[in-house]
Amino acid sequence: MRKIVIAGNWKMNKTVAESVKLAADVVAAAKNIKNVVVAIAPTYLALAKVAEVINGSNVKLAAQDVHWENQGAFTGKISADMLKEIGVDFVIIGHSEQRSYFGETDETVNKKVKKVQSLGMTPIICIGETLAERQGGQLESVLTRQVTGAYEGLSGDDALRTVIAYEPVWAIGTGVTASDDEAQQAHAFVRNLLATRFGNSVAQSISIQYGGSMKPENAAGLLAQKDIDGGLIGGAALKADSFLGIVTPGETLDK
Ligand code: 13P
Repeated sequence: MRKIVIAGNWKMNKTVAESVKLAADVVAAAKNIKNVVVAIAPTYLALAKVAEVINGSNVKLAAQDVHWENQGAFTGKISADMLKEIGVDFVIIGHSEQRSYFGETDETVNKKVKKVQSLGMTPIICIGETLAERQGGQLESVLTRQVTGAYEGLSGDDALRTVIAYEPVWAIGTGVTASDDEAQQAHAFVRNLLATRFGNSVAQSISIQYGGSMKPENAAGLLAQKDIDGGLIGGAALKADSFLGIVTPGETLDK
């Protein structure tokens, strides 16, 4: 019923030449993957070259961000049209690094989601609490605010064309992963929010990825959880073998 979607977020890593090489390695390693939707998100600079490398393969192209305006005087920004033109399928929106370093808000997340969807691309909407928020008992209120904000004005049909990435901020790049239970509980809470807003059938169809120090050693346990439908991978996506070590356990799962 739900697709398992595993995406590599390369963040600000790899030159264009290195990105081409890693993309080719991922294509080769993923050639027998059938059930998992596999995507890679290089930097903007490498997107066009990586698009050529993965053309005709089962690996999809993702971008790490987008601007919500069509065009104009927005120095340093990239429009959704530009991404669409080179064959981007998924756009990561609202990553915690964008939220904490670059002023992303729930409102800008929502604008980006709508823009990306208007061009037929799929947003990967990132949500997640900081350690202080979790320890302060605010996990549920933070997730509620982020989900409500991201989906403002979207219909059930629109919601079906989204992916969520639950990334607890304290697990990103730290080597500390949420336990299977902690992650499952947060995912179930998010799915419940979606069910309240869009109905159970829509909520049951939306893939919710986990992100935060996911690696081959913990992927099978996380992916086996009822409401975990994939992963958004940082560090472990920078090598084809560790990335595929996360993708492969997803092949045999049924959600
Ligand atoms: P790490 O896998 O490096 O913890 O990063 C997760 C992430 O932020 C993916 O978007």
